[in-house]
Amino acid sequence: MLYAFELSGEHEELPAAEVLACLKIEGLDFQPHSRVDQCLVVDIAGREEDVEKTLAGSVTGRLAMTHHILKVVGITENNPDAVLKLAEAFEPEGYIIEGESFVVRAKRIKHHVDFPCEYLEQKIGGCIYRKGFRANLKNPDVEFRLILSEKAVLGTLLSSVDRSAYEARTPQNKPFFHPGVLMPRVARALTNLSEIKTGELFLDPFCGTAGILVEAGLVGARVIGIDAQEKLVLGAHMNLEAYELDYLLMEGDACRIPLKDSTINAVVTDPPYGRSAAILAGSLEELYSGALEEIHRVLKPGGIAVVVSDKASFEYGEKAGLKVLEIYVQRVHRSLTRIITIFRKDMEQNYSES
Ligand SMILES: C[S@@+](CC[C@H](N)C(=O)[O-])C[C@H]1O[C@@H](n2cnc3c(N)ncnc32)[C@H](O)[C@@H]1O
Repeated sequence: MLYAFELSGEHEELPAAEVLACLKIEGLDFQPHSRVDQCLVVDIAGREEDVEKTLAGSVTGRLAMTHHILKVVGITENNPDAVLKLAEAFEPEGYIIEGESFVVRAKRIKHHVDFPCEYLEQKIGGCIYRKGFRANLKNPDVEFRLILSEKAVLGTLLSSVDRSAYEARTPQNKPFFHPGVLMPRVARALTNLSEIKTGELFLDPFCGTAGILVEAGLVGARVIGIDAQEKLVLGAHMNLEAYELDYLLMEGDACRIPLKDSTINAVVTDPPYGRSAAILAGSLEELYSGALEEIHRVLKPGGIAVVVSDKASFEYGEKAGLKVLEIYVQRVHRSLTRIITIFRKDMEQNYSES
């Protein structure tokens, strides 16, 4: 069965990568099907009822850079004739049941269409009405959504991500604030890319005010944070307490992590950037190479580390023995571009003697 993820436009690649990571984390049997601007379609095998329960529950609860998940009715060319042909031809079974009411909402992605959405909403509504269902604009049982991107994707709404929950956790709203924190949506997406699962151990060795740790804690990870500044460790305590999370914090040095080898399932971290950063090390180079060696040491084989920086960290990671899986570039504003590097610790090497 095909499912479509309506993606946020905040980055070209991260939202789709986050979806695929979440499907993997939740153990779904899937294949990417097609991808258009701000919409990813995935083919998911298994009992529809179980798949949809997982999508609407834990997957929706984890995602940060998706707006909605749809059950796909069909994908067609992006023009009114093709869309109406699809709406006319589809079998309602599996999408809407007898007696249920519906609404049709169309979403135009950027410049991909030059005809009015309202026109198509009404025409599709007419097709569904003729199949024996009644429209209810205010309180429908089923919402049909039409995504007008490079292709037209028609589906029924399965679930929506509560984006306001991320706004509510904006750094300034937390008990302790210090500048230089990733926004919660970005921190959550990176946490998902680390493939951390509920109950597993998650580390941020430059944890600051715990912005990343809060997001990992909220998806059920047991989180460990280290920071060189005592006042930030105290602030991190306040922020983690506010969400009643399972955590351990230490004041210390990311280049000397007091944890045993191969014990951590995933790392996501945001080491100090650039000129103004507060660092506990001789230089930023020493800090990056020391910290990446330690991250490699404490990660379990197969574990993922996500490192965010304004400079390429891949060389330091590779030198430490980590394998680069992906590098994403995110332009934040004119003077800040983030480089997000996804590393994996090799499965095959023998780490027992390190
Ligand atoms: C960009 S901030 C991280 C912000 C963090 N993600 C948050 O949510 O607040 C980098 C942090 O690295 C810390 N730091 C600098 N040198 C360090 C070291 N050698 N070991 C551990 N932490 C260090 C700084 O105190 C700072 O809090």
